[in-house]
Amino acid sequence: MIDHAAVHKKDEHVTLICDECVRSMASSGFANYQFEHNALPEMDFSEIDISVNFLGRKMHMPLMISPITGGGDKSEKINKGLAELANDFSLGFSVGSQRIAIENASCEKSFKIRNYAPNVLLFANLGAVQLNYGWSIDECRRAVDMIDADALILHLNPLQEVFQPGGNIDFSNLLKKIEKICSLLDVPLGIKEVGYGISASLAKKLCNVGVQIIDIAGAGSISWSAIESSRSNDIVLRHSSAAFLNWGNPTAECIRSISESEKLDAKIIASGSVRTGVDMAKALALGANICGNASDFLRRILKSRAECENFVESLTLELKAAMFCTGCKDIQALKFAKLVKIA
Ligand SMILES: Cc1cc2nc3c(=O)[nH]c(=O)nc-3n(C[C@H](O)[C@H](O)[C@H](O)COP(=O)(O)O)c2cc1C
Repeated sequence: MIDHAAVHKKDEHVTLICDECVRSMASSGFANYQFEHNALPEMDFSEIDISVNFLGRKMHMPLMISPITGGGDKSEKINKGLAELANDFSLGFSVGSQRIAIENASCEKSFKIRNYAPNVLLFANLGAVQLNYGWSIDECRRAVDMIDADALILHLNPLQEVFQPGGNIDFSNLLKKIEKICSLLDVPLGIKEVGYGISASLAKKLCNVGVQIIDIAGAGSISWSAIESSRSNDIVLRHSSAAFLNWGNPTAECIRSISESEKLDAKIIASGSVRTGVDMAKALALGANICGNASDFLRRILKSRAECENFVESLTLELKAAMFCTGCKDIQALKFAKLVKIA
């Protein structure tokens, strides 16, 4: 039987994201950095190469569509549209949490997008907290196999769960369970937040137990306390959610501090309010391997495929222009570009 409440929850998240009231008031931190402009780049703009290899997949540019949804008919349409876009532009793609399909096989269809994106870097996605609610390596393997994924990303979302009516709030002893999954899983395991960031100290703990990918999903984008409490009639929940409107670790600072940490060789996905190609250039210069974006793609795919195409083309132009004006002919060169902290 389909879990209509779970499908409804996912659809509500998708609808609410278009509402201005759920925007975070926190800073992503990118505005605190500025590239030193190079007026004489000594290169041909048309020869700039923004392609990268990530987990053995060639990508046209260092960008993935971050996890959003799956479950019902509306989700299926969104996943199909975004997977086809990822395929045509050679971007990475992650499905949203597959919990709904692990609990109910009839929901698997909305996640099975491999046919639309045969060569795309594809991530499976589950909530790490489910490891405290009876799940183990079996469910992790099923999520990967379900979509023929290149890696599994487990999300950490403590603040969201607190404000979610009936949320899963037991986050105790999870690190040990994550370690076990790392040792048993056949594909790389990554950890991400959902909009509040992963600090360097947490990244260190995670990498010490075998996590290979850190997806920052830092502050500045959406407010899960606002989204979840607006789905509830609980007056206390609604009132308290406002106190968290500017909560979270700024994305830029997370990238910088993780990439500067000694003996920490995690692959870094920069996400969480990475809005422009200039933000992408800054994220890559600070140490990220690729960037991710969820809410801008979602808002656009709900309107049309053309809006998404324009967005990817704008990001491409902005990234290349930033590289041109810092004299960087490829993504590797960006790591040596002069990025100044101005605030
Ligand atoms: C409607 C919606 C649903 C989301 N669902 C998931 C999810 O199922 N799993 C997950 O790891 N992250 C989920 N996220 C979080 C995003 O992947 C991303 O980390 C976050 O939105 C910050 O990135 P952005 O600024 O590019 O939107 C969701 C985000 C949105 C907007």
